[in-house]
Amino acid sequence: KSPYKIAVIPGDGIGKEVVPVGVRILQACAKKYGFEVQLEHFDFASCDYYERHAKMLPDDWVEVLSRFDALFFGAVGDPKRVPDHISLWGSLLLFRRQFDQYVNLRPARSVAGVPGPLRNPGKIDFWIVRENTEGEYTELGGKIFHGTQREMVVQETVMTRVGIDRILEYAFDLAQSRPAKQLTSATKSNGISITMPYWDQRVAEMSKRYPDVKVESYHIDILCAHFVQKPSSFDVVVGSNLFGDILSDLGPAVTGSLGLAASGNINPTGKWPSLFEPVHGSAPDIMGQNIANPIGQLEAGSMMLRHLGQPQAADDIILAVNAVLGRGKPDELTRDLGGQASTTQLGDAIEREILAPAATTSS
Ligand code: NAD
Ligand code: IPM
Ligand code: MN
Repeated sequence: KSPYKIAVIPGDGIGKEVVPVGVRILQACAKKYGFEVQLEHFDFASCDYYERHAKMLPDDWVEVLSRFDALFFGAVGDPKRVPDHISLWGSLLLFRRQFDQYVNLRPARSVAGVPGPLRNPGKIDFWIVRENTEGEYTELGGKIFHGTQREMVVQETVMTRVGIDRILEYAFDLAQSRPAKQLTSATKSNGISITMPYWDQRVAEMSKRYPDVKVESYHIDILCAHFVQKPSSFDVVVGSNLFGDILSDLGPAVTGSLGLAASGNINPTGKWPSLFEPVHGSAPDIMGQNIANPIGQLEAGSMMLRHLGQPQAADDIILAVNAVLGRGKPDELTRDLGGQASTTQLGDAIEREILAPAATTSS
C-alpha cells in the first residue's frame, strides 16, 4: 500500500541523532525497491515540547497519529529537566496503551564481528515477546500518610485473561513458525503469589493448542542467569511487561551492544498504527556528540518495513548492517563497538552498502 504514511517522532537526546539516520536508510530502501514513504515529523513527545507547553503531547494526538500507517520513534526522557514518569507516562506509554500495541517484539541477535562480554556465547538468535499494555505497568495505586512515619505507597499489577492470552498466542505462533519451536516463559510464581501463578496457568492452558511447541518456564532470577550462561539456547522468550523490559536490555547486552537492539510495539489487529523504536533510551550521557550507535534505530526501521509489507527491503537493512559490522573497520564503527566513527559515518556506511553492496562492486 505504498505510499506509506509514517509519523517520525525523534523525542529527546540521542533520539534526535539516530532518527535522522534511520530516515535516510528508509529513503534509501524506498529508492532501491521502488516504494514511497511519506514522512511527517513531529516535535512532541519530547522534553523540549514539555517545557514549551507544560504537556508532552497536543490534545489531538490520538486523531493526528491514527492517520499514519506506522510511527517511527526515537527515545524520550531527560530526567534533569522532566521527571521520567511524567515524560514517559505522557508519551510512549500512552502510545502503547492507546494504540493497543500489546506486543513488544525485541530481537537479541549476535552479529559476526561484534564481540560481546562473554567468552563463549555461541550464536545468539532469539526473540523476546514482551506484554506491552498491562502487568506491572499500571497507574493503579496511591500514597497515604504523606510525610509521616507511616507513609505508604501501593502500586497494583494487573493481569487480565484476555491480556495474557493474546500475548501468549502471539508468542506461541512465533515459536511455531521457527525451526526450534521452543518457547520460554518468564515467571516468578514462587514469590509473586497471585498474578504469576495465574500467568503460569494460562501458559499451560495455551500450550494445549500448540502440542508441537516445546515449552519451558523459568523464574525470572534464574532466567537472567541463563541469559548470561547459555544465551544461545533460547528461541522465543515471553514475559510480562516488567520482566520483558528487563530481559530485553539483558539479551542485547550479551550480544555486544544495547545500541544494536530494535523494538516493535505492535498492534497485530492493524486497527491502530504500530510503533517502531530502538530498545535503548535517550542516553543523556552521550547526547549532542554524534557518537551514538544508530543501528538499533535502523533495525527498528527494518522491523517497520517488514510490518508494512516490504520484507526484501527489511532483509536488506539487516544484510547491510551485517556487512558493515562484519568487516569491522574502525572508521565505520561507533565507539560502543570499538571504533571511532560518528553516528553519521556509520549511517553513511550502511547507506552505501544498501545502495551499492560492496560484494558486487569493487573494494
Ligand atoms: P539508555 O538506554 O538511554 O542508556 C543506557 C546506557 O547505554 C548509557 O550509558 C548510554 O550512553 C548507552 N547507550 C544507549 N543507547 C546507546 C547507543 N545507541 N549508542 C551508544 N550507547 C548507547 O538508558 P537510561 O540511561 O536508563 O535512560 C536514559 C533516559 O532514557 C531516561 O530518561 C529513560 O527513562 C529514557 N528511556 C527511554 C526509552 C524509550 O524512549 N523507549 C527507553 C529506555 C530509557
Ligand atoms: C523501554 C523503556 C520503557 C519501558 C521506559 C522508558 C518506560 O525502558 O522501552 O524498554 O520500561 O518500557
Ligand atoms: Mn527498557
